[in-house]
Amino acid sequence: MHRKILVTGGAGFIGSNFVHHVLKKYPDVFLFNMDVLTYAGNRENLRGITDPSRHILIESDICDQARIERLLREQDICTIINFAAETHVDRSIMGASPFIWTNIQGTYSLLEAARTVWLEEQQLGEGDCCFLQVSTDEVYGTLEPDDPPFSETTPYAPNSPYSASKASGDFLVRAYHQTYGLPTLITHCSNNYGPFQYPEKLIPLMILNAVEGKPLPIYGDGRQIRDWLFVEDHVRALWMVLEKAQPGSVYTIGAEVQPTNLEIVDSVCALLDERFPDSEYVPFNSLKQSVTDRKGHDRRYAIDSSRIRKELGWAPEVSLKDGLASTVDWYLAHRDWVNQVRSRDTYNAWMKKNYQNRENSA
Ligand code: NAD
Ligand code: DAU
Repeated sequence: MHRKILVTGGAGFIGSNFVHHVLKKYPDVFLFNMDVLTYAGNRENLRGITDPSRHILIESDICDQARIERLLREQDICTIINFAAETHVDRSIMGASPFIWTNIQGTYSLLEAARTVWLEEQQLGEGDCCFLQVSTDEVYGTLEPDDPPFSETTPYAPNSPYSASKASGDFLVRAYHQTYGLPTLITHCSNNYGPFQYPEKLIPLMILNAVEGKPLPIYGDGRQIRDWLFVEDHVRALWMVLEKAQPGSVYTIGAEVQPTNLEIVDSVCALLDERFPDSEYVPFNSLKQSVTDRKGHDRRYAIDSSRIRKELGWAPEVSLKDGLASTVDWYLAHRDWVNQVRSRDTYNAWMKKNYQNRENSA
C-alpha cells in the first residue's frame, strides 16, 4: 500500500523540488499536493515528475480547513508537510496582508484540521501521524559579525513582516504540540537556490538580468551575508526529518557556507563570462548597480547544522561552486520555463514596483 502524504505549496520552488525528489526515490509514496497557485506557484514546475499516477495537484487554499479535513479523512492521510507560504521579504514590506493570511491563518487551518481528524476522530498516537512545518532561519533575526550562528535554541527575533508571519506560524505549531500532543516537527532552513526558483529572488534574478544586459541591482553595500544551500540538499534533509525525527523536534539546516551578496553575484557573473566569452556584456559583473537598500535588511545569517548532522546523519552534498554552476546552466537551458513565468503580468508588475523607485546609490 502507498504511504500518503499531503504536501502543501508543492508547485512552488522548494515544494516542487521535494515532489520531484520523493516520487523519483520512493515508489511507495503517493503525494496529494495542495497549492492555490499564486504568482509563485506553477504547474510547469511539476512537468516531468516520475510516475504522475502517484501525484494529484489539488488547486486549493490551505486556509480552507473543511477541505483539508475532508481530504485527510477520506484519503486516510497521516502526514503533512507544509511548504505553502508567501515567501518574498520585499513583497512583505510592500504589503503584509497575504503573508498574515497564508503564513498564519493557513498554518492554523492545517493544524486545526490535523487535530480534529487525527487526534479527535481517529485518536491517532505519536508514531501514527506527523506534521512538518517548513520554516526559515529568518525567524531568528539578524547576526552581528562575531555572533555565533543560529541554532535550534536561538531566541526568535523576526525583523520583517515575512519573518514575523513565519514565526507566528511556528508558534502555533509549537502550541499544538504542547497543548494537544500533535506530533509536529519544525525545520529552519537558510537561503535555498536551484531549479524552479521564481526569478524575483537574488540568484535567478541576477542570472536572467545579466544575460539580457540589464542592471544587477545590489541592495545597499551588498555585504549582507546569507548561508546558501542547494535545494536538493534541503529536500533530502526534509525527508530525513520526516522519516527519523522525534515528535516535537526542531532542526536548523544550512550549508555553513556564507558568502556576501556581492560574492554570490560575482560568482554568477564569472560563470556567465565562461559561458558567453564573446558577449558584449563581458565581464558581466560590470552590470552590478548599487540601489537603495531593503528596509530593515537583515545583515547576516549563519547556521549551525550540527544537530541534524549528528542525530539524523544529514550533510550537504553539493558545494556552492557546483550548485551555482548547475543553477546557472538550468536557467540557461530552460528558456521556455523562464519565458512562461515572465510572460505573466505579475512578473513585470513586480519588477516595476520593486525597482523603479530604488535610487542608484553608487
Ligand atoms: P515559493 O514562494 O516558491 O512557493 C510557495 C508556494 O506556496 C507556491 O506554489 C504558492 O502557490 C503556494 N501557496 C501560497 N499561498 C498558498 C495558500 N494560501 N494555499 C496553498 N498554497 C499556497 O516558496 P519556496 O521558496 O518554495 O518556500 C517554501 C517554504 O520554505 C516556505 O514556507 C518558506 O518560508 C520556506 N523556506 C524557503 C527558503 C528559500 O530560500 N526559498 C528558505 C527557508 C525556508
Ligand atoms: O533565509 C531564508 C530565506 O531566504 C527564506 O525564508 C525566504 O523565503 C527567501 O526568499 C530568502 O530570503 P532573502 O530575503 O534572503 O532572499 P532574496 O533572494 O530576496 O535576497 C537575498 C539577498 O540578496 C538579500 O540580502 C537581499 C539581496 N538582494 C535581493 C534582491 C532580490 C539584492 O541585493 N538585490 C535584489 O534585487
